[in-house]
Amino acid sequence: MVAKGGQTVIDVKDVGVSFGDRRVLDGITLQVTRGEAVAILGPSGCGKSTLLRLMIGLLPITQGTISILGEQIGSLSGLDLEKLLLRFGVLFQSSALIGSLTVGENVALPLTEHTALSDSAIDVVVRMKLAQVGLAHAKDLRPAQLSGGMAKRAGLARALALSPELLFFDEPSAGLDPLTALSLDHLIVDLRDRLGVTIVAVTHELASVRVFADRVIMLRDGKVAAHGTLDEVAKSDDPWVGNFLNRTAPREETNHQEWARLLAANDVAGKDGGALGNA
Ligand SMILES: Nc1ncnc2c1ncn2[C@@H]1O[C@H](COP(=O)(O)OP(=O)(O)O)[C@@H](O)[C@H]1O
Ligand SMILES: [Mg+2]
Repeated sequence: MVAKGGQTVIDVKDVGVSFGDRRVLDGITLQVTRGEAVAILGPSGCGKSTLLRLMIGLLPITQGTISILGEQIGSLSGLDLEKLLLRFGVLFQSSALIGSLTVGENVALPLTEHTALSDSAIDVVVRMKLAQVGLAHAKDLRPAQLSGGMAKRAGLARALALSPELLFFDEPSAGLDPLTALSLDHLIVDLRDRLGVTIVAVTHELASVRVFADRVIMLRDGKVAAHGTLDEVAKSDDPWVGNFLNRTAPREETNHQEWARLLAANDVAGKDGGALGNA
């Protein structure tokens, strides 16, 4: 299936997920075209990471279908699944670097595991990937010696090691100061432009979306609330979308349900219920 302007590389159809009796995703349909940078935007807890985990094969698909690079992700196993997984890179919220290895060794890992390259060839690739993310000087540092922004870049270099066609990010700029976040967002745009890699980033950060996203898919209550360019989405008739984009969502709307759920889950209502109820 071909979407406007190019080849569809991600095709999500009617995907639903429940955890217990909690319906987290409820009939999500979306497409991503080769070479674009798409943001999946929505408030905390709306199911963004869950959707990402489905797309990268970390969660089984129980309703609907997801096809990545033309392959149905739910129907693959063993070597076929591994071959597909090698065609995309993932940067999780925590950069997930191995603390006992240097930055260079972390980036080399996918290459030693999945290619037959010699040590010297791997060294060349590692230097190239580190240069691509602006970390040429950090090859011999350990993760504990990196700032938050450098750790993200190192994780990104590792995600790029096998020259993926697709890059998935979970909250790329979470936990970074605004300037460091901005430079990471610019790096994402740069990777799309220089390497032509397709990018899917789930985020609740509107500021990031403005910088890197060609297109936005907004999630609310497990459904796609709006999609299009940021300008198109801003014109949505749905007042919730406008409120989210303007950061004027009334606290009651987002908090009460979630608090009630947390209180029930933690059974602290008797102790702190009054105080939390007013939060
Ligand atoms: N493995 C799981 N088991 C039970 N509930 C989960 C699981 N993963 C996520 N959830 C719940 O699903 C909802 C959506 O979570 P998540 O996808 O992490 O949201 P987001 O990334 O948008 O903040 C949350 O209420 C979360 O508590
Ligand atoms: Mg999340």
